[in-house]
Amino acid sequence: MNTSRPIAVLGGTGPEGFGLALRWAQAGETVIIGSRDAQRAQDAAEKIKQRVGASAKISGSENIAACSATDLLVLTIPFEGHAALLKQLKPAIRPGSIVIDATVPLAASVGGRATRTLGVWQGSAAQQTAELVPKGVSVVAAFQNLGAELLNADGPVDCDVIVCSDDPNAGQVVRSLATKIPGVRAIDGGKLENARILEQITALLIGLNIRHKGHSGIRITGLPQAAYDVM
Ligand SMILES: NC(=O)c1ccc[n+]([C@@H]2O[C@H](COP(=O)([O-])OP(=O)(O)OC[C@H]3O[C@@H](n4cnc5c(N)ncnc54)[C@H](OP(=O)(O)O)[C@@H]3O)[C@@H](O)[C@H]2O)c1
Repeated sequence: MNTSRPIAVLGGTGPEGFGLALRWAQAGETVIIGSRDAQRAQDAAEKIKQRVGASAKISGSENIAACSATDLLVLTIPFEGHAALLKQLKPAIRPGSIVIDATVPLAASVGGRATRTLGVWQGSAAQQTAELVPKGVSVVAAFQNLGAELLNADGPVDCDVIVCSDDPNAGQVVRSLATKIPGVRAIDGGKLENARILEQITALLIGLNIRHKGHSGIRITGLPQAAYDVM
């Protein structure tokens, strides 16, 4: 089933957003790549078209134009630009929108290690987003633990995606979107405050990748089948 609304991936010129955009375009979704530079966004969209084929429904726009074009937004930008971009986008975010946040506040953002996270006053990058978006906009934390290397490779990924939100309906939309990526099982991870834990797991995965020279992901075992079913 198609989500029936375009997905704007802001920062989609970077490896994480590009990989998500690629997977959704492959699944037949309509995707808009957002960038600070419209030409860079269009170039990334063209690369996706070359991989997916001419029928891919993908375009590229400057971030604010991409944001204005839909009510399903994905943030894939580094933490150092997170608050500033959200302040810029705020007037363009439509009431009732869903904002999916994959941002990880890595200490690397301020010159520290990529294996550590920064303390964020609100508790997590996703909770910072919730404070910065207009009222009535739902924030969903997801995809922090799904690495770009896996997304940009061919074939299914071997990962679960934990989805956290204070809005159960928005969480369900995002779980359905996550399962469009072959290999992904999407799990309801509870309230947005749990985003803090998802973001910290990424720092651990980066450390594991360095230590063992791989591309790690997570699988959650032992839950009843219903936990992995998306309605
Ligand atoms: N890479 C991964 O494997 C991975 C996995 C899980 C989560 N994440 C998280 O996803 C986010 C994106 O990761 P990434 O590796 O794709 O990051 P990235 O390459 O550093 O940045 C992604 C894009 O964000 C834009 N950008 C850079 N600095 C910005 C700023 N100060 N303000 C606004 N936009 C800016 C750039 O696009 P333009 O120059 O075109 O605007 C860039 O291509 C990060 O928060 C990261 O922690 C990454």
